Amino acid sequence: MDYEALRGDGGTDKIDPYDIIESDSIRRDFPVTHKKVYMNNGAIAPTPLSTIKSITDFLVKSSEGGPGSTCISEYITSLMQELRTRITHLINCEPEDVIFTQSTTEGLNYVSSGINWSRKTNDSIIVRGGAHEHYANYLPWLQVSKRKGIKLHELKIDENGYFELEELEALLKKKTNNGNQNNKSNRGSTTLITLSHALYNSGSIMPVTNVGKIARENQALFCIDAAQTVGSICVDVKKIGCDFMAFPAFKWICGPVGMGIFYCSKKAAEFLVPHFIGGESATLSVDEKQKQKKVITYADGPERFQAGFRNYGGVAGMESSVRYILRLGIENIRKKNLKIANVLRDELAKIPNIKIHGPDDENLRTSIVSFSPVSSSYSIVDSGTIVNKLEQNEIIFAERDMGGGMKAVRAAPHFFNTEEEAVRAVRYIKDILK
Ligand SMILES: Cc1ncc(COP(=O)(O)O)c(C=O)c1O
Repeated sequence: MDYEALRGDGGTDKIDPYDIIESDSIRRDFPVTHKKVYMNNGAIAPTPLSTIKSITDFLVKSSEGGPGSTCISEYITSLMQELRTRITHLINCEPEDVIFTQSTTEGLNYVSSGINWSRKTNDSIIVRGGAHEHYANYLPWLQVSKRKGIKLHELKIDENGYFELEELEALLKKKTNNGNQNNKSNRGSTTLITLSHALYNSGSIMPVTNVGKIARENQALFCIDAAQTVGSICVDVKKIGCDFMAFPAFKWICGPVGMGIFYCSKKAAEFLVPHFIGGESATLSVDEKQKQKKVITYADGPERFQAGFRNYGGVAGMESSVRYILRLGIENIRKKNLKIANVLRDELAKIPNIKIHGPDDENLRTSIVSFSPVSSSYSIVDSGTIVNKLEQNEIIFAERDMGGGMKAVRAAPHFFNTEEEAVRAVRYIKDILK
């Protein structure tokens, strides 16, 4: 009954979604929960059965109707519109700001390679300390800074990954005084701040709203890697005031691999020359008055960045997953996820000589819980070995880099996990360390 209600086809008025999250029935939607303690949702989350059905339904319908027929083309167009609308509910944006990609990485590269960077105008990029950042939100910026000879500023960070807002402000003020002006035509210097919304290693949530305000006051562009937040905590691009945001379908949204979203406000799109170009994204014409000069005209709206056909099965699957998590409610998901994370942290804290990473304050972290054994008296201190041993016991965690040469074991629980699973997982960890 609950499962049917969550598909989004029937009415759920009488059912409190939080009761569904807490009930066993939610686990029927995720068959992995019958066999394993799956807590690697910060890498790839399982898709609910309803999403698998939506993908197969789409493929069957497309194949039966003829994938290139007008009726299936119209169906695909309506599916894409539906997904765009659902994304507006997820991150509070406009439908025309939603571009379909295959991953977070792709979206971030649209920005890094799309801006017309120039050394002459003293353009620069500001990132958090690079060693602590996910490669997806570091290497594209490092690469473009090397290629274009522009400055890459790395903000100093503390052990949880936080930086001083004052340092950021001072850096931007210095640039503003030197003529920072994000203006497409006749522009001064372009500065872009890029930030993970939440950190993949410690789960720390960054102060994106404060950064958005500072960026606006200083006419800097602001790009967010939201791979670790959309689907797990409330995200509001209007409140944050960012220009760009990238996230995948296949982490906290529980959607299919190979689908992602790039949010780009209409105003911010003017700063980007599309990284890819081809059919669907642009047209070619000839200017008779200018000696038959060939003219490229980019499409308006999201199509401008969507060169070539998209992953339509992925669109169908993501639409289904977004519908699923919106029915549960992001605030309910957040509540349940934090509950599991807190059980993990409390149980781990009972083991001596374990360093638990990330802030103590639950408002400052996602459900990611990372730890490193710090005593040589343990039989195993290597986090990779601990992760392998856990997997031998059907418990799926991951190993992640904490920067400065430190590694950690990472648990990333989601709403279908239980407190009992958290306790059981830590019991195994204790046994492994003995
Ligand atoms: C913070 C962060 N950014 C980017 C990525 C890469 O995501 P994608 O595979 O969607 O490119 C990850 C993946 O774990 C991540 O945690």
